[in-house]
Amino acid sequence: MSKRILVTGGAGFLGSHLCERLLAAGNDVLCVDNYFTGTKRNVAACLDNPRFELMRHDVTFPLYVEVDEIYNLACPASPIHYQHDPVQTTKTSVHGAINMLGLAKRVKAQILQASTSEVYGDPEVHPQVEDYWGNVNPIGIRSCYDEGKRCAETLFFDYHRQHRLPIKVARIFNTYGPRMHPNDGRVVSNFVVQALKGEPLTLFGDGTQTRSFCYVDDLVDGLIRLMDAPAELTGPLNLGNPNEVSVRELAEKIVRMTNTRSRIEFRPLPVDDPRQRQPDIALARKALDWAPHIELDEGLKATIAYFRELLEIS
Ligand SMILES: NC(=O)c1ccc[n+]([C@@H]2O[C@H](COP(=O)([O-])OP(=O)(O)OC[C@H]3O[C@@H](n4cnc5c(N)ncnc54)[C@H](O)[C@@H]3O)[C@@H](O)[C@H]2O)c1
Repeated sequence: MSKRILVTGGAGFLGSHLCERLLAAGNDVLCVDNYFTGTKRNVAACLDNPRFELMRHDVTFPLYVEVDEIYNLACPASPIHYQHDPVQTTKTSVHGAINMLGLAKRVKAQILQASTSEVYGDPEVHPQVEDYWGNVNPIGIRSCYDEGKRCAETLFFDYHRQHRLPIKVARIFNTYGPRMHPNDGRVVSNFVVQALKGEPLTLFGDGTQTRSFCYVDDLVDGLIRLMDAPAELTGPLNLGNPNEVSVRELAEKIVRMTNTRSRIEFRPLPVDDPRQRQPDIALARKALDWAPHIELDEGLKATIAYFRELLEIS
């Protein structure tokens, strides 16, 4: 049955893919975004669909709309962007959560929060399981994002306990794919853009540190499955790809796949760079029958094609 679905941050990287998937399933989608890091271009393909609506709005202000479900994705996700205006970042997570939870309560909608692996901070447990409480610095330069997201989770669970609001909390790990911001400083977009521009690929450390990358289509599938799961499954639930790859291997792969003449350039490792980050997705496998399927090569192929086109336009 078709639903009316609000996606905050819908013009961003993950949000735009989510809007497309929800529309393709026959739903009415209202995309709300203040275009801080998102763009209208990201949802250009949706604009002709009569079931799609786009609204410029900042979630730190209240919103009154009639909807059945809310996916709350609004929040800049990369350090470069969330550290640009840290006070606004915390407000987006905290005031945004309060406004969207208030709306959900008022119109009796089910609401899903896009939380993050960053709630685990600098983890002492590998891989990270959902009942690990994390190791987060409350006063550092990343805290506006990490603590903002932690507080949002608290608000979700208090609305659930206090008002019996149906909630879902997804803890998203590193995700990549087309429509990532080209200048967000993340390793996949950095390497791809550098390779396509023929610039050296800047690799921090010796490249043996590992990361796990989830392709956007797999991630969006996980979010929708979580929203559609029985009400008892509130989360928090990890969504990400547990397959690890070393950063050096990733750089070499991108060099090969782009046929670039770029070299790999080694730089000193930043102090807070984790050696390893990897989700434990046993809960998602069991409760949602979900696991990522798209191989890194396949995902990178689509991502490279996207950036190639983007760099030709601009
Ligand atoms: N991409 C990842 O790897 C990843 C990992 C963990 C969590 N997440 C979470 O998923 C969500 C989406 O991330 P993304 O990678 O698509 O990032 P993104 O920056 O592309 O998307 C965020 C969107 O929110 C919008 N936005 C920001 N502040 C807003 C505000 N105050 N009001 C309305 N809109 C606002 C931005 O313009 C953008 O369109 C974020 O909440 C992020 O924290 C993403």
